[in-house]
Amino acid sequence: MTNPYGHPLPSYLQSDNLGPWGVYLQQVDRVIPYLGHLARWAETLKRPKRALIVDVPIELDNGTIAHFEGYRVQHNVSRGPGKGGVRFHQDVTLSEVMALSAWMSVKNAAVNVPYGGAKGGIRVDPKTLSRGELERMTRRYTSEIGIIIGPTKDIPAPDVNTNEQIMAWMMDTYSMNEGATATGVVTGKPVDLGGSLGRREATGRGVFTVGVEAARHIELDISHARLAVQGFGNVGGIAAKLFAQAGARVVAVQDHGGTIYQESGLDVPLLLEHVAAKGTVAGFAKAEVLANDAFWDVDCDILIPAALEQQINASNAGRIKARMVIEGANGPTTPEADDILQSRNILVLPDVIANAGGVTVSYFEWVQDFSSFFWSEDEINARLVRIMKEAFTGVWQVAQDKKVSLRTATFIVACTRILRARELRGLYP
Ligand SMILES: NC(=O)c1ccc[n+]([C@@H]2O[C@H](COP(=O)([O-])OP(=O)(O)OC[C@H]3O[C@@H](n4cnc5c(N)ncnc54)[C@H](O)[C@@H]3O)[C@@H](O)[C@H]2O)c1
Repeated sequence: MTNPYGHPLPSYLQSDNLGPWGVYLQQVDRVIPYLGHLARWAETLKRPKRALIVDVPIELDNGTIAHFEGYRVQHNVSRGPGKGGVRFHQDVTLSEVMALSAWMSVKNAAVNVPYGGAKGGIRVDPKTLSRGELERMTRRYTSEIGIIIGPTKDIPAPDVNTNEQIMAWMMDTYSMNEGATATGVVTGKPVDLGGSLGRREATGRGVFTVGVEAARHIELDISHARLAVQGFGNVGGIAAKLFAQAGARVVAVQDHGGTIYQESGLDVPLLLEHVAAKGTVAGFAKAEVLANDAFWDVDCDILIPAALEQQINASNAGRIKARMVIEGANGPTTPEADDILQSRNILVLPDVIANAGGVTVSYFEWVQDFSSFFWSEDEINARLVRIMKEAFTGVWQVAQDKKVSLRTATFIVACTRILRARELRGLYP
């Protein structure tokens, strides 16, 4: 079976609606001409190594039994164990988890941490569950995927709607089943349980770090820049805070509850407090309310999508006013939108490098757990910034040399690393 782009497709995906996996396949196609003799192995990037689908039954507080779809996909493990987050969201699909796992393979290779790519998820709106239900669902899911995860096999982490508490339950469940505490089975844990200082802020800090680097290249003054941010959770909230601390004005924020605007700049610390209390930016007193669709017309210099996939698409890419888009989210821009933004000279810092700060500090957490020796926050932040800057500089150079977008340049660097590892290891048997 083939899709409109001519790819052989697995029978388990709908060929007429490939979803995020279809976006990823188009991104891979753009890199193949640059892979030289390694192109021979490129097909390996178009198939996940392993996809596990599990039923997650739990007893609800009202006595009924609910069943949820759970997934864990390991896209590629040529360079090391699988690594990638777990998402709890009502729209999770196999296609989405496959794409997210593949972007993890690319991201981990781009910043050169010794991991393959993986991702997991449960199709559920966790806001509808009580704390007890959430814990039972998390534990049952962890137990079901326990046959393929582990500190040297595949290491989950937080993603949309999952946090330190969920990671603590996952670590405990896996450890109970193993009969030994295994802190290294997940990252993004509470600091009291083998988590790392700086992990919670790491993705937003990485977004900020590459944003500052790129701004220098295009002579954009961060201290006078106006920002629009979609998604005000772990990634968007922290990135907004760091940009605001650097003097930028955060003029618009959108989340699942609505869109707010303040031309003179939102009070970001106050907005973070509001979101912590109310769960959404909606209802924030010191701002105007905007229609959700008007978010894409906001006058700004930097746009940070930090929510879900395919938010910037052919229908709104032509309206974006920013000079630079920094992808905090995974897969927020479709290939058509990428082309529109490029033709309009809007620089896109792609997810596979821009939001790699989280997995970089997850790597530090995993190393600290193995050695049972913990580093200071300053040391962690300094190492994070060094890795992000070096990776970004390398990608920038490839983009200049080959006259390609930063996304294709990042894919060139990363896919070359992945396929070189594949070639060196050879095929078994
Ligand atoms: N947490 C990490 O370390 C990490 C690392 C790399 C990439 N990411 C990616 O960043 C993105 C956000 O993850 P997070 O960890 O910040 O999640 P989160 O759950 O902390 O926050 C998600 C945010 O998105 C908003 N949102 C949800 N649906 C929306 C919609 N339809 N329109 C507008 N906003 C919407 C939510 O209201 C919330 O503000 C995801 O794409 C995730 O894969 C996260």
